[in-house]
Amino acid sequence: AIERTLSIIKPNAVSARKIGAIIQRFEAAGFSIVACKMVKLTEEQAQGFYAEHKERDFFPRLMQFLLTAPVVALVLEKENAIESYREIMGATDPESAATGTIRADYGQNVTINAVHGSDSPESAAREIAYFFAESEVNSYE
Ligand code: CMP
Repeated sequence: AIERTLSIIKPNAVSARKIGAIIQRFEAAGFSIVACKMVKLTEEQAQGFYAEHKERDFFPRLMQFLLTAPVVALVLEKENAIESYREIMGATDPESAATGTIRADYGQNVTINAVHGSDSPESAAREIAYFFAESEVNSYE
């Protein structure tokens, strides 16, 4: 089925001027960019987005990282988008991410890992709604 997934280009990739290179990979992999915005997250926004991790030891590090530069949030549409995106994104830790994945190429460590992607249809729905009104998400042929 055609699905939507939420992608975030994280602060390290924005600071490294890799927005274009990463978006190129999305389109080359057959995703349609149906929504896109740059956001300088507030602490409250970052905490709310990652609320499921708030008890984890890495949470303070993750919060600090997310506030270092703006992020780019995108909604990507494709057949089987959630799994397909996770394949090009690679594993959470860039050290263990497959060769040629975005995290392997642009991630620095398990926290500073270049991109985020939704992990299930339920998270995708929640995460898309976190950044975008339905009227901001566009479909096209
Ligand atoms: P993401 O897939 O966006 O979702 C949660 C984020 O928390 C993850 O990417 C990393 O940026 C960070 N993270 C996950 N696991 C760890 C960990 N073990 N140590 C540090 N940061 C982590």
